[in-house]
Amino acid sequence: MRVCVVGGGGREHALVWKLSQSPEVEKIYCVPGNAGIASLAECVPIEAEEIEKILDFVREKEVHLTVVGPEAPLTAGIADLFQEHGRLIFGPCKEGARLEGSKARAKQFMMDYGIPTAAFEVFDNAAEAYRFLQKASYPLVVKADGLASGKGVIIAQDYSEANEAVRLIMEEKVFQSAGNSIVIEEYLEGEEVSVFAITDGESYITLPSVQDHKAIYEGDRGPNTGGMGAYSPAPVLTEELAKIVEQNVFKPLISGLRKEGISYRGVIFGGLIITADGPKVLEFNVRFGDPEAQVLFPRLRSDLCPLLYEAARGNLSAAPAPRWLDDAAVCVIMASRGYPGKYEKGKEILGLNDVSDLQKTMVFHAGTAFEGNKIVTAGGRVLGVTAWEPSLKDAVGKAYRLTEIINFEGAYYRRDIAHRAL
Ligand code: AMP
Ligand code: GLY
Repeated sequence: MRVCVVGGGGREHALVWKLSQSPEVEKIYCVPGNAGIASLAECVPIEAEEIEKILDFVREKEVHLTVVGPEAPLTAGIADLFQEHGRLIFGPCKEGARLEGSKARAKQFMMDYGIPTAAFEVFDNAAEAYRFLQKASYPLVVKADGLASGKGVIIAQDYSEANEAVRLIMEEKVFQSAGNSIVIEEYLEGEEVSVFAITDGESYITLPSVQDHKAIYEGDRGPNTGGMGAYSPAPVLTEELAKIVEQNVFKPLISGLRKEGISYRGVIFGGLIITADGPKVLEFNVRFGDPEAQVLFPRLRSDLCPLLYEAARGNLSAAPAPRWLDDAAVCVIMASRGYPGKYEKGKEILGLNDVSDLQKTMVFHAGTAFEGNKIVTAGGRVLGVTAWEPSLKDAVGKAYRLTEIINFEGAYYRRDIAHRAL
């Protein structure tokens, strides 16, 4: 079959890489892709948000299955558009994507279906939010309602920090219209873990646990990024806790979607925190995580294609159950100096050929581009250097040996990825 992957980051490189190993897949297109994806798929210069152009393209090429990487095309309604035109797509419809697109919506949904989450209030009026803060207890968390590239969450230690957060989000509009409403919620303490479920809206399959490292600096300090590295499995999610998550999160979630008549054929990503009172949901995302996908797909022994295809067809139970390697996988993100703030682009990346033959490793590309024959940096997160081995310690050692061979001016990476499990 012909497949089109939407997006151009490390997650999409991992999707394309895994799909390219499928005997079912004869041709892969990627919109827009990147310099690494180009060796496995035909990259087409259409942006992921240009959903009408993507539809025209897949009609012209008679693509059988489109797989959406990032959230923006989903919240813009790419799945609804494709379904109207009889095109198979892996990704939820617009109403389903609101679980990520609106934090207020996600919190209300969790309340309605009894999914454990932090206590919260929603405000669309700054004066009322300020009044609430006067009688609140601290620390607490202030969140812009809409999409803000993972930056719309402010942890406030006291009243004055919370006041400033509300002012920035609701009055100064630092996240534009994403800050028209806010959620103010209880601060939770615990270790975080990402759990994914592939679903056709009726049944679902959960994938192995992953832990992401969101903060820019070692020791999980500094501003949040899209993710600086990940590893799987995450031992914090014991078998017992995984069962609780299945029972208390994914079961009510899927049955709630069904009750509300929401067509959800894609992947749902629970960002969880393991508190003293058990697992609670911090957020839902409506796509694979990045870098989480870069450690999940190397661990998948079986074919990814039937899972995505049958979920998109509404027939997930027809797909063989996925089989996983026992190996632990780790991904270290090499980023441009300055990320998640301002950074330079166009730096030549050296050493990629020296690591391309190593067993059980894969360098996934995120922000990379061709400049003539050279591969240069073209984004904040540049590469996802991934390795897998029976022991996590060996996988980590191997990934870091690769980061020493690869180089570009201003390359920055955290040296403590997976520290909580070592
Ligand atoms: P979110 O985008 O809602 O997942 O928030 C981003 C990050 O902020 C999370 O990964 C947590 O590290 C932190 N965070 C969000 N909500 C809370 C909360 N209620 N308590 C503690 N930390 C939180
Ligand atoms: N790594 C977190 C995310 O993809 O949202």
